[in-house]
Amino acid sequence: MSYVIAVAGKGGTGKSTVSSLIIRFLLKSGKFPILAVDADPNTNLPNSIGVDVQNSIGSVLSEYMKDRISIPQGMTKQAYLEMKLHQIIKEDRNMDVLVMGCPEGSGCYCGANAILKSYFDDLKKNYKYVVVDNEAGMEHFSRKTTAEIDLLIFCTNYSLKGLKTVERLSTMVDDLKLNIKKRYVLVNQAPEVLDSKFLSEIEKIGIPFLGHIAMDSMIADYDVKGIPLTTLPDDSISVIKLDEMLGRVIS
Ligand SMILES: Nc1ncnc2c1ncn2[C@@H]1O[C@H](COP(=O)(O)OP(=O)(O)OP(=O)(O)O)[C@@H](O)[C@H]1O
Ligand SMILES: [Mg+2]
Repeated sequence: MSYVIAVAGKGGTGKSTVSSLIIRFLLKSGKFPILAVDADPNTNLPNSIGVDVQNSIGSVLSEYMKDRISIPQGMTKQAYLEMKLHQIIKEDRNMDVLVMGCPEGSGCYCGANAILKSYFDDLKKNYKYVVVDNEAGMEHFSRKTTAEIDLLIFCTNYSLKGLKTVERLSTMVDDLKLNIKKRYVLVNQAPEVLDSKFLSEIEKIGIPFLGHIAMDSMIADYDVKGIPLTTLPDDSISVIKLDEMLGRVIS
């Protein structure tokens, strides 16, 4: 069984950064093969982990929805779509990368989504770990493509407003009746020490606190220079923090 880790939160709170650090941790600790999924239509996870991906599920689905699509003789529509989906998986050392993207145009994608869900359920079985970097709007959750999540990490910035968003997202996830084994709050871009009032506010929303990552000039520097975060050194303050957090929750 694969262990599914999903990272969610408001825009700009560090979902892609944290997803990349999680992938770094897994690769470094020999926890692979990994499937890294970029579920944000505004793709950026591949850059952060240093993998070049050209195609997305969105473009495959858009193609599939076109009436003039020509399916080879003797092939069902489902088999054709699955073959096309398989072609867009980018293989890297110990890790494959899949970009969800966004289908163009209108039309009903329910049929295609159902195929996508069953394809994804099957695909997952090939990996020990699946890491999903979600978009702020959580569309990916509502499509229920990933209905089973072992570890859900809500990213927030150091603000009470951010915590409110976490609370709202958590309720939304409950309403969708997804199967989530563990969920935590991670405070990113925080000061070195968090105020006790802020910690008690986290306690009030009832989601366990995973830890916090302070502002790390190395992250900003790597981001600006386009260097993958998976190559951050072991002594980077954010790497130390994230490795400690994951070491506690992933056996
Ligand atoms: N701990 C940190 N220290 C310094 N900079 C950080 C830290 N975490 C994230 N950043 C920077 O903040 C910005 C937003 O981070 P990131 O892209 O990971 O957020 P996101 O939640 O994925 O955003 P989006 O909702 O747009 O996908 C990036 O420029 C990133 O480099
Ligand atoms: Mg992102």
